Amino acid sequence: MCGIVGAIADRDVVPVLIDGLKRLEYRGYDSAGIAVVDGDDVRRVRRTGRVAEMEAAAAQEGFNATLGIGHTRWATHGGVTETNAHPHVSHGVALVHNGIIENHEQQREKLRAMGYEFESQTDTEVIAHLIHSFLAQGADLLSAVQQAVRELHGAYALAVVSRKEPGRMIAARMGCPLLVGLGDGENFVASDVSAIVQATRRVIFLEEGDTADVTRASVAVYDGNGEAVQRDVHISDVSLASLELGPYRHFMQKEIHEQPRAVGDTIEAVMDNGAFSASLFGEGAADVLRDVEGVQILACGTSYYAGLTARYWIESIAKIPCSVEIASEYRYRDAVANPKNLVVTISQSGETLDTMEALKYAKSLGHAKTLSICNVPESAIPRASRLVYYTRAGAEIGVASTKAFTTQLVALFTLTCTIAKLRGVLDDATEASYLDALRQLPGSVQHALNLEPQIVAWSERFAPKQHALFLGRGVHYPIALEGALKLKEISYIHAEAYPAGELKHGPLALVDEAMPVVVIAPNDALLEKVKSNIQEVRARGGEMFVFADADSQFGESEQVHVIRTPRHVGVLSPIVHAIPVQLLAYHAALARGTDVDKPRNLAKSVTVE
Ligand code: M6R
Repeated sequence: MCGIVGAIADRDVVPVLIDGLKRLEYRGYDSAGIAVVDGDDVRRVRRTGRVAEMEAAAAQEGFNATLGIGHTRWATHGGVTETNAHPHVSHGVALVHNGIIENHEQQREKLRAMGYEFESQTDTEVIAHLIHSFLAQGADLLSAVQQAVRELHGAYALAVVSRKEPGRMIAARMGCPLLVGLGDGENFVASDVSAIVQATRRVIFLEEGDTADVTRASVAVYDGNGEAVQRDVHISDVSLASLELGPYRHFMQKEIHEQPRAVGDTIEAVMDNGAFSASLFGEGAADVLRDVEGVQILACGTSYYAGLTARYWIESIAKIPCSVEIASEYRYRDAVANPKNLVVTISQSGETLDTMEALKYAKSLGHAKTLSICNVPESAIPRASRLVYYTRAGAEIGVASTKAFTTQLVALFTLTCTIAKLRGVLDDATEASYLDALRQLPGSVQHALNLEPQIVAWSERFAPKQHALFLGRGVHYPIALEGALKLKEISYIHAEAYPAGELKHGPLALVDEAMPVVVIAPNDALLEKVKSNIQEVRARGGEMFVFADADSQFGESEQVHVIRTPRHVGVLSPIVHAIPVQLLAYHAALARGTDVDKPRNLAKSVTVE
């Protein structure tokens, strides 16, 4: 969603701002802008559409400055217009904002009564005027920002500059991520480390309520009470290569193909350890995990489907109950908490608002045993959790989640086996066989990727379709759900997934020759059941596209097309079967000519309700 970058230096910061905004493009946005302090003036340029258009306008107007802020906006309050785009300016104060101010209407009324005029419909413009109102009473910029944020309800990450104080930039955060990047004689602020990684890897993650006073030579951080605080300096391991396309056409394609490496990196700690061990989840994890009575998983989208898959593992291997709930539903219902349950949040970004709020709600109900499975170090959700397992997928740029999903599954399988071992229900031989399966997983994922040419041929038949059904059973049902989500979000083909046994209870009515039916049919205990379900489709003239394992007997016909993975990989089979459905969605979208990495209406990190 929205993205922030700011810089103060001895050199022209405009290229830093533009480059940073381009690196934030993947988050999803519909307008972009920058503001710079130029002499005793604040100049800004804003455009709807791509950063490149705004960049061209800035170049034409000769923007060049040593202090500036930039923003990519994903519209919430007010439409996609240039006047609603950030930065917003009030009497020489310019600011960019991520988040939502809930009491913006009351603030707007108050500020109108004070004589301020509004040019936009945004909640952000009130913050600019509010800060100016404190400056007008004699405050300096830091104090004006600190006083202004005390009046705000809601979530914000802010970067603020003023023509009156050209040597400083103020940052503030509550509920939205914001970090300060430390350079050599220059400093930066950003909502995401990828925006400034070309300039520095040394970062301070601001905490809830913090403000930071950033000059060229210094960074001072203050907590919510205005007390000076020391925050740790982290060295980011985000690599520039992970943010660049390289030889690929799309980030999604790159990320699909990175999965053998991503899975390999994610299991590295387990392999180095040679056993499933609580220490993989952080300090004191054994005490937290040993006596859990059940697991409550909370997540959204693809991460939710990873949770649904894990439920099958947790109940069958660790032998404790597991329930999985969409975070945006859980946070608003009267849930009955068992404090002995482990609450697991799953999030690629670590900043999905619904998941974060669900975690806060679970904690308010008395859940102290919390664990986050996350791909972004130091993001909000792991920081709010007692334990954490970081997947090592590397930066995921494509809006459609791929390598994050398979690595989340690896993490969840590791968690399952760790709990099972602590509970004494995982014997040594089974543990050894699971470790071996994990060791072989990167190779099995590569074998699945090698099916791509066959999947390309299928995708051409998919491209003209309006609808598709995905079927799976047992632990592969969530993979069918994930396949349908991938297809709909990037190709815009309407797709739904059902447990194959449920077909005859309604969705079978949809089946005719125009409806392709994708079936995940690995060689597991439910294969014969799936085969019967396939007959139900076949008898109604439906065309089937079956992903099977080499060792399962499937007769092909005009109506039944089969692609076979090299072999059945047992308990980790859902991870391998996720690959072909990702490839199918990718190539169907390619054939339809959609914007694969930035599908319409979607954002990578969903930081609003
Ligand atoms: O960052 P998160 O894992 O918390 O994101 C959750 C969903 O927004 C995300 O998985 C979304 O469904 C993806 N676009 C799916 O490809």
